[in-house]
Amino acid sequence: MKFVLKIGGSLLFDSEQELDLNQFNQMASIVRQLKLEGHELVIVVGGGVLAKKLVEKGKTLGANRDALDQLGIAATWVCAQLMITALEAIAYPTPIMTEEQLIELHETDKILVLGGLHPGQSTNAVAARAAEIIGARILLNVTDVEGVYEKDPKQSPEAKLISELTLDKLRHIVSSLANEPGAYPLFDKRALEIIGRAGVEIWFVNGKDPQNIIHAINNGKIGTRVTIS
Ligand code: UTP
Repeated sequence: MKFVLKIGGSLLFDSEQELDLNQFNQMASIVRQLKLEGHELVIVVGGGVLAKKLVEKGKTLGANRDALDQLGIAATWVCAQLMITALEAIAYPTPIMTEEQLIELHETDKILVLGGLHPGQSTNAVAARAAEIIGARILLNVTDVEGVYEKDPKQSPEAKLISELTLDKLRHIVSSLANEPGAYPLFDKRALEIIGRAGVEIWFVNGKDPQNIIHAINNGKIGTRVTIS
């Protein structure tokens, strides 16, 4: 299967807010297994608490919105480079930083890893655009929750998981959320625009156990599936 693996920044840091190298290594071994099984994938990583911390520092210095996003992007590149380090020889040695580079390199045998691309969006938009460029039909969005809930499960533990929803319904859920540097929602507006025009399905799974990635790809075990409407 050809797909984009989006690894949420929340998975890459431990409870002390330090980069969780064990998690990087576990993700890398899952990716190695998928590649050996013949799957084709591009990886996109978020910036997690490092992005949030840098954005806060930028705000204190009086940075404008674009500069705040650039600080967030810098954090995603740090995470992308560490993922490349964990993947060792199977990865292209540096993060892919432009769409042109992705277009040029996507048929290489190496695993490509991206962080952010440009201000005004989140890495979910990057993952959507990467899926469009490489012609993937699936965007596997791996975060620290099972999928999309009726309410934010971190604030409302009783919130129910939605196992399947249409893109229109996801748009509706997302429209009420803020789009801010360091805090783009579940799926930002630009990501949804790209998903809509490219006809990509989004599958959400919980990556706290990285084996869930294998279960999703090989057995269709998905927390939430967003179908193309
Ligand atoms: P994300 O918001 O995507 O990372 O990027 P995250 O917080 O780890 O989110 P999840 O958990 O992966 O979904 C970090 C910040 O980098 C900037 C934004 O400010 C974003 O909030 N960014 C990222 C961009 O400006 N452009 C990009 O293409 C990507």
